[in-house]
Amino acid sequence: MKYTITALPGDGIGPEIMDAGLSALKEIEKQFGHDFQITTCAFGGAAIDLTGQPLPEETLISCQKSDAILLAAIGGPKWDDAKIRPEQGLLALRKSLGLFANIRPVQVPESISHLSPLKQEIVSGSDFVIVRELTGGLYFGEPKHFDDSGAVDTLVYSAEEIRRIIVQAFEIAEKRRKRVTSVDKANVLASSKLWRQIANDVAKEYPDVTLNHQYVDACAMHLIQNPTQFDVLVTENMFGDILSDEASVLSGSLGMLPSASFAKDGPSLYEPIHGSAPDIAGENVANPISMILSVVMMLRESFHLEAEARALETAVSETLSAGFFTKDLKGQATTTDFTKEVQKRIKGGVTNG
Ligand code: NAD
Ligand code: IPM
Ligand code: MN
Repeated sequence: MKYTITALPGDGIGPEIMDAGLSALKEIEKQFGHDFQITTCAFGGAAIDLTGQPLPEETLISCQKSDAILLAAIGGPKWDDAKIRPEQGLLALRKSLGLFANIRPVQVPESISHLSPLKQEIVSGSDFVIVRELTGGLYFGEPKHFDDSGAVDTLVYSAEEIRRIIVQAFEIAEKRRKRVTSVDKANVLASSKLWRQIANDVAKEYPDVTLNHQYVDACAMHLIQNPTQFDVLVTENMFGDILSDEASVLSGSLGMLPSASFAKDGPSLYEPIHGSAPDIAGENVANPISMILSVVMMLRESFHLEAEARALETAVSETLSAGFFTKDLKGQATTTDFTKEVQKRIKGGVTNG
């Protein structure tokens, strides 16, 4: 079948890992006889250099018209003092497409549980999903301004914004181990008090799912002390941003975690949870797994190609089991080495099985 995809390589390691993701996708296309039509567009700092804007209109239109969007990463020191930063382009893209639900799965397969800086017996078997609200909260609330005398950010949530993300978490939990942990700061924040009230209301509609609440500070501790307690964790925009980077350490590296962002309707966007890693850009050492697993999520969620998603996922886990690790996982495999090993295993898996 034919599918249209807009690819946004962005900045730093973005183009390197996007190459990896698209190479893996090409192998799937070949083995399964699909037609993935890729349009690559300027985005982030690279787009600022070309057009003065991090999200040029052409890029937004291409995203809106596609079946799915793949984004690698944006940002970097070159644009940190720019009038418009690359990050504003990312927020504008999420808002324009209505991508309110950001799904960040965290898994620690047995073959890599020894790679975490945390004790193997603590991280082993961790398997949960962080459901992060993506278009509200502190990131978007008005007023927002700063000058030398002071600065303001505003944390706003409507009841409907809270309800729809919590419903999303319960829907995911129904298909998993049926546990939702709602994370807030209801002992201090008004928005969190409403969040907790709505979580309790939504829970009544899902009698087979158990809901518990954690304050975000305690949750940060539980995540590294006892991560296997979690099934689905749902939280607001900024808490989700911070907790997901923390959770990535369970799997050994920030370079492991993919994500999917969904709107009410329209195309979904798939991206690693990490940034452009300027400290290692251009060295062919970035871990491409976050990007390749984002491609897996796209195949599964946007295109409903379960066998293809599984073939790619299996190729990644077999490459890890065979001992190929990038530098962040204390190995010597380059980005392109790792990707070639994945491609080889897609071919082998499909031909043999
Ligand atoms: P970062 O996520 O880019 O990097 C943090 C650390 O993790 C670095 O040491 C980096 O080398 C490492 N790392 C990240 N991804 C890796 C990978 N795939 N393989 C190996 N190591 C990896 O965060 P930062 O350094 O705080 O931010 C750099 C820039 O990225 C900033 O401009 C920031 O705003 C931006 N950013 C963008 C996104 C995005 O595009 N979605 C997300 C987060 C940060
Ligand atoms: C992420 C990033 C972004 C965020 C930044 C770059 C705006 O950290 O995708 O996690 O905070 O959402
Ligand atoms: Mn982040």
